[in-house]
Amino acid sequence: MFIRTYGCQMNAYDSERMAGLLKPLGYGVAASPEAADLVILNTCHIREKAAEKVYSELGRLKKLKTEKARTGAAMSIAVAGCVAQAEGGEITARAPHVDMVIGPQAYHRLPELLARAAREKGEILETAFAVDEKFDRLADRQADGPTAFLTIQEGCDKFCTFCVVPYTRGEEVSRNIDAIIAEARSLVVQGVKEITLLGQNVNAWESAPPAGEAGERWGLGELCRHLAKIDGLERIRFTTSHPRDMDDGLIAALGEEEKLMPYLHLPVQAGSDKVLKAMNRGHTAEHYIGLIARIRAASPDIALSGDFIVGFPGETSEDFEATLALVEEIGYASAYSFKYSRRPGTPGAAMPKQVPEAEKDERLARLQALLEAQRAAFNKAQIGRVLPVLLEKPGRHQGQLVGRSPYLQSVHLDAPESMLGSIAPARIVDVTPNALAGELTTKGEAAA
Ligand code: 5AD
Ligand code: SF4
Repeated sequence: MFIRTYGCQMNAYDSERMAGLLKPLGYGVAASPEAADLVILNTCHIREKAAEKVYSELGRLKKLKTEKARTGAAMSIAVAGCVAQAEGGEITARAPHVDMVIGPQAYHRLPELLARAAREKGEILETAFAVDEKFDRLADRQADGPTAFLTIQEGCDKFCTFCVVPYTRGEEVSRNIDAIIAEARSLVVQGVKEITLLGQNVNAWESAPPAGEAGERWGLGELCRHLAKIDGLERIRFTTSHPRDMDDGLIAALGEEEKLMPYLHLPVQAGSDKVLKAMNRGHTAEHYIGLIARIRAASPDIALSGDFIVGFPGETSEDFEATLALVEEIGYASAYSFKYSRRPGTPGAAMPKQVPEAEKDERLARLQALLEAQRAAFNKAQIGRVLPVLLEKPGRHQGQLVGRSPYLQSVHLDAPESMLGSIAPARIVDVTPNALAGELTTKGEAAA
């Protein structure tokens, strides 16, 4: 089996779970589609480019399937993920060599669908929604290294007017708290030191507390504090948050809970109130700036990250200047920025005053130059500091390991392989374009 993953970390998580589900059925992991009897494309629908990639990959796989058939070897092709959910019918029409189309909530049914595909000729389309059933029926997780993703929430009810997620992933659903705790414990027993809690709107997660715990409703802050009690779990992260769901409990936890890493991805998308309104974000620039001020008051060294869209319909050059001004005011440690992509079925696609592509290109280049300068400055400011680094994997050079700082920066340093999986204090001595260079500190020098 070969799984190709596109898009966000939730897809990475789902791919891992699909592999885990198919393993007991005898599907091993193949190094390439050429070597596989089953190819799964776990797709992303967020921007046009992401969706287009799927059809070009399907074109390549069609050839491969035909070649293989000539030699008597069979290869099944499955399309999973958000393109499957959004364009299931179109895939079956455009790509008859696809055997299965499976939406993100139907992965637990993969074994049964594979069996059906083997029995019946013709494509199988499975795109019903049922989040808890999916998680309940997925097999136990196998940890792979000292860090792991854990999906706790899926879907989105926010309906930003540019975004397909509410249509592809369905409404906001919080995963069962006991299942989350059990999965976290199982990962830690397997040596995981850092867990990143995932959700399209991760901070919309809520639940009654587990049996015996105080409180009426728990939000993400309470969940993080509870998970932090697991011995052996050293770091907790979460992504992606929405400004509207950033409650006091979570802000307080960010300031107080040492295992919660000082890094927050909190997309704002744009800096003009007119554009924010047209995007249906449900907040103004001032509200976002005030929110960041409260977060920084609680957690002064927090590193901020965001998502930005340039060229949303109706965005004038003054509106765009407001985005630049907001970025200047906040100061981001990292960020993702995109040209607005018109997605069929979303309200934005039908809006008048679409911005010409050349204008979008120019705005994106200006925004990215600013964000890149901020990122570089943030990285450079770490030089001379001693940071705790979770050593995740071997580096490219002999004797080198790569890890992450609390601020999610990659750190390269020389260390023995026996230190993999540990958190070591490292003095930051240099920056490269995409990483920090560190040196292990001698014993006794505290991380600061
Ligand atoms: N065009 C461009 N960017 C988009 N995003 C979501 N939808 C679109 C779109 N139609 C971006 C947003 C979001 C991130 C995951 O992708 O910035 O936060
Ligand atoms: Fe999309 Fe907005 Fe929901 Fe984020 S909050 S997933 S951008 S609709």
